[in-house]
Amino acid sequence: MRVIVESDSETVARSAAVFVAALVRKKPTCVLGLATGGTPLGLYRELIRLHREEGLDFSRVTSFNLDEYVGLPPTHPQSYRYFMKSNFFDHINIDQRNTHVPDGRAEDFEEHAEEYERRIKEEGGIDLQVLGIGSDGHIAFNEPGSSLGSRTRLKTLTSETVRDNARFFDKPEEVPRLALTMGVGTILESRRCLLLACGKHKAEAIRATIEGPVTAQITASALQLHRDVVAVVDEEAATNLWRRDYYREVEQAQQALQSGKFKFLGQ
Ligand code: F6R
Repeated sequence: MRVIVESDSETVARSAAVFVAALVRKKPTCVLGLATGGTPLGLYRELIRLHREEGLDFSRVTSFNLDEYVGLPPTHPQSYRYFMKSNFFDHINIDQRNTHVPDGRAEDFEEHAEEYERRIKEEGGIDLQVLGIGSDGHIAFNEPGSSLGSRTRLKTLTSETVRDNARFFDKPEEVPRLALTMGVGTILESRRCLLLACGKHKAEAIRATIEGPVTAQITASALQLHRDVVAVVDEEAATNLWRRDYYREVEQAQQALQSGKFKFLGQ
């Protein structure tokens, strides 16, 4: 796993946007996997800026979101469809018919989940999946104990997640207890994963994800099995990483290689 430690959430957002923008430029028909929550907001703001100021073109991009609360209509201000529209889609030139968010009001959740998986395959799979991480180590809404081979399905949220997400609702009792979510197995099939984390409250989950054992108790740790994960975290989220000095050295060596400053012995 490549680990990039940035000073704060602003630089995390800019650094993450470089990866997304590079893909959109290289493959204008790419398929993006998108996340909601507080963490990717800075990334979306930066991508909107790149669209407005540098013409970053999303017109042929397709997207699939990780999850949606069960029971909320797309017009509900706390639904993830609404979040994506108001924080990202309405401000770029993506064709909103090509944006997919699970339907939290589907009549048959099992059938809808299968259809969601089928749609991802039909589009050729996800090129780059943006991920946040829960303080309990979840990715998407794959709560502790979720199968590491799981597919899109209904999931019951833990009380920790309900508490964490209550900040977006007027009253804690309004937070839905169920969500439709991509599975860990679905996420692991993405060609690249971009994991973002900011703040001290994510430090333990980040340590366990990057340096702990692979375990269904921290579903993000399954990313260790993926061949192309880039974790971009801020100093606070990196606090508990034992090997942070090494991660820095790797980035410095990469930069030296790219800028041609790397010297072979004997030169
Ligand atoms: C959201 C999602 C969740 C969040 C996680 C962190 O689509 O899949 O896994 O990424 O709960 O949320 P924030 O960023 O609000 O701390």
